[in-house]
Amino acid sequence: MALVGRRVLLIVAGGIAAYKCLDLIRRLRERGARPRCVLTRGGAQFVTPLSLAALTEDRVYDDLFSLTEDNGMSHIRLSREADLVVVAPATADLMAKMATGLADDLASTVLLASDKPILLAPSMNLFMWNHPATQANLATLRRRGVLQVGPGAGDLACGEVGDGRMAEVGDIVAAIEAHFGAAGPLAGRRALVTSGPTHEPIDPVRFIANRSSGKQGHAIAAALERLGAAVTLVSGPVALPDPPGVAVVKVETAVEMKEACFAALPADVAVCAAAVADWRVAEQAQEKRKKVEGAPPPTLALTPNPDILAGLAAAGGRRPRLVVGFAAETENLIGHAQAKLARKGCDLIVANDVSPAAGTFGGDSNTVHLVGPDGVESWPALPKEAVAARLAEWIAARLAAVVEDR
Ligand code: CTP
Repeated sequence: MALVGRRVLLIVAGGIAAYKCLDLIRRLRERGARPRCVLTRGGAQFVTPLSLAALTEDRVYDDLFSLTEDNGMSHIRLSREADLVVVAPATADLMAKMATGLADDLASTVLLASDKPILLAPSMNLFMWNHPATQANLATLRRRGVLQVGPGAGDLACGEVGDGRMAEVGDIVAAIEAHFGAAGPLAGRRALVTSGPTHEPIDPVRFIANRSSGKQGHAIAAALERLGAAVTLVSGPVALPDPPGVAVVKVETAVEMKEACFAALPADVAVCAAAVADWRVAEQAQEKRKKVEGAPPPTLALTPNPDILAGLAAAGGRRPRLVVGFAAETENLIGHAQAKLARKGCDLIVANDVSPAAGTFGGDSNTVHLVGPDGVESWPALPKEAVAARLAEWIAARLAAVVEDR
């Protein structure tokens, strides 16, 4: 579970163990991770870009000076878009480049430009491994916080026996899982977050919507992920990038959002931050509705949408342990939030003022009040990211307490 949505940048260098990275990719994908590959020239002697591309369902990056790729900036972007960089196999040559800061191809340049944790799976002949130069390079890299898995001892491809065998794929996967699993108080927890508006079609070209930007919901998904949770974000149409490390399911309507939420269960916590349309058009026209000269304007008959928050809170054995809703109000904030808490059967309502004067919809800050069965906790005006970070901490503490109470 720790790997769902995690973006792993796999650098495949030139060693015979490179063939094992095909199985590594498969196992990472089975666990919900999103691997992407950089292939060195040496690596391409052992595995083909086609195999890596087919298994990752992504393109393979091998050219530092590609003019078709981000104006030559892919070495920066690849690292920024990853949660972890894994070098498997890590050759003596690539480790030496890393230790000295050499950047003469895409792989070494990505590693030098990286701001992300790096995990090495060394693989080489035992004399190369035991050579003082390799051991000194390794010590330098370890001091800088580079992580390592293996090598093991055994038969080497060169016919000799000893240290230098790349860690087994299962051990590399376990090391990656351990890295993410140790990442925070929500490690091993699953979170479901809804965000953004819903669009309810009138006809093929028109829809009913609202002003929600999705900023608060997306920030909450990112904050829960940073505390180690495996997060599924079910988002209505928004103009925001997907939060890193989060599995994003994109939907349009409330009905689709509900289906996606229930498909994402089980979850330890659900945070419903979406501004779900309360109604949809009862009969959606299959063709664009036309004006009729002289006829009165059409009337739209509406029908209620399912209440996703209330549905999750009443999901019986599938109910997340903690269900958090939002209340968007323009007056009598706390009163309406308390009524909503009872009506929807959730554990907490985060009440926020969405009157135009507050500038919450589309704005970057939010003033919220946590309304629970035990009382109200009011927070000062904070950037939406800060509200998200505080709420994620609150959720982590509350989930820990729920477990201790058992
Ligand atoms: N919500 C939901 N599904 C709906 C409507 C709302 O999951 N069909 C959730 C929202 O994500 C939010 C909470 O319910 O967490 C409150 O939504 P809000 O629109 O403020 O309240 P309503 O239930 O729509 O009540 P009212 O329109 O009377 O304010």
